[in-house]
Amino acid sequence: MTPADAFVTAEAASNAVQNATDFHTGLVAEYSAHNYHPLPVVVAHAEGAWVTDVEGRRYLDCLAGYSALNFGHRHPDLVAAAHRQLERVTLTSRAFGNDQLGPFCAELSGLLGKQMVLPMNTGAEAVESGIKVARKWGYEVKGVAADRARIIVAAEGFHGRTTTIVGFSTDPDARGGFGPFTPGFDVVPYGDLTALREAVTPDTVAVLVEPIQGEAGVVVPPAGYLAGVRELCDTHRVLFVADEVQAGLGRTGHLLATRAAGVDADVYLLGKALGGGILPLSAVVADADVLGVLRPGQHGSTFGGNPLACAVGRAVIRLLEDGEVLERARDLGAHLHDRLAGLVGHGVRGVRGVGLWAGVDVDPRVGDGRAVSEALAARGVLVKDTHGATVRISPPLVVTREELDLAVDALGDTIKR
Ligand SMILES: Cc1ncc(COP(=O)(O)O)c(C=O)c1O
Repeated sequence: MTPADAFVTAEAASNAVQNATDFHTGLVAEYSAHNYHPLPVVVAHAEGAWVTDVEGRRYLDCLAGYSALNFGHRHPDLVAAAHRQLERVTLTSRAFGNDQLGPFCAELSGLLGKQMVLPMNTGAEAVESGIKVARKWGYEVKGVAADRARIIVAAEGFHGRTTTIVGFSTDPDARGGFGPFTPGFDVVPYGDLTALREAVTPDTVAVLVEPIQGEAGVVVPPAGYLAGVRELCDTHRVLFVADEVQAGLGRTGHLLATRAAGVDADVYLLGKALGGGILPLSAVVADADVLGVLRPGQHGSTFGGNPLACAVGRAVIRLLEDGEVLERARDLGAHLHDRLAGLVGHGVRGVRGVGLWAGVDVDPRVGDGRAVSEALAARGVLVKDTHGATVRISPPLVVTREELDLAVDALGDTIKR
């Protein structure tokens, strides 16, 4: 009997109607690899900042797909762009051209003030591509001896799940059991310029860091850190590669978190929100002296630069271009952080973050991050725990002030002691 056959038996169908959540979580538990531990919420519909589960309960989405849904669920401009493109052409592979790729690359280059774009799909692919480009630049432009290139990364960082990337992760869950790993990475503490300076060697080709560490719990580096990274990179002729997959495209109230610190990286890695929450679209963005090292046959992806993703990406760029969404995120972010600051000492140990992005450290006497996330879900607010004691709040940038108040009030009630 297939799962579909099982469902149509009268008993299963009636149970499913009575308890659709159990039905769906049961299927996932049985047939999906157990590589996640999701909250027991099964979403069937979503719009803007709200999702509705299979039993009709509504929740305010304060995670927003880890920033992939910066513009909310099913933003009308993005859905319209996807529909229009679905009627025309969806995939060509890069064996041929398509009429969305060129405009997408030109518009994204223009938005970031860089010369070239390498379109990929997931964030991890953007990071992998950035690593390859930095190494090749090291050999061809900087003159590092073959196979000696090194890249400096930060402890507690998160850049994705490929074997190369988890190889330089400091999270035992992320790397345990997946070796052997790719050599050539040096890990230093995040925010520590002295450690970074000491790690630089003549073979160093890049420093790869998140401008704000998202998965680590929205960790904002000390003032001057990113400028210090820039200076070190300039002094030692090293590429500054900023992983803006989660921090970029509006989350902080700025187009790029690196630029908000007054710093321009050599290479930007984008993902998540670039695909508008509709499909995966990532990119490496840099000047021609860096991305120009790639020549035909040396890198690629069947889906990278596909016309459907590029059409959605162009609509995302249009939303970012007018600046209104960024201004809104700055204003609402200030309000969110004001309100969260009021919880410190009342079940909250501390709050970090910027813009519509907050890491809330829950007082362990109240419970851990998971327990708080579950209790908040029961009150109709979706957030996600990280690193045990922290709850991450990152609502879509289309959230209203009243909705933010609702979320913070619910959090306050949940952790009240
Ligand atoms: C900073 C950063 N880089 C890379 C990634 C990987 O992106 P993806 O899950 O799309 O591969 C993530 C995902 O959370 C991220 O936060």
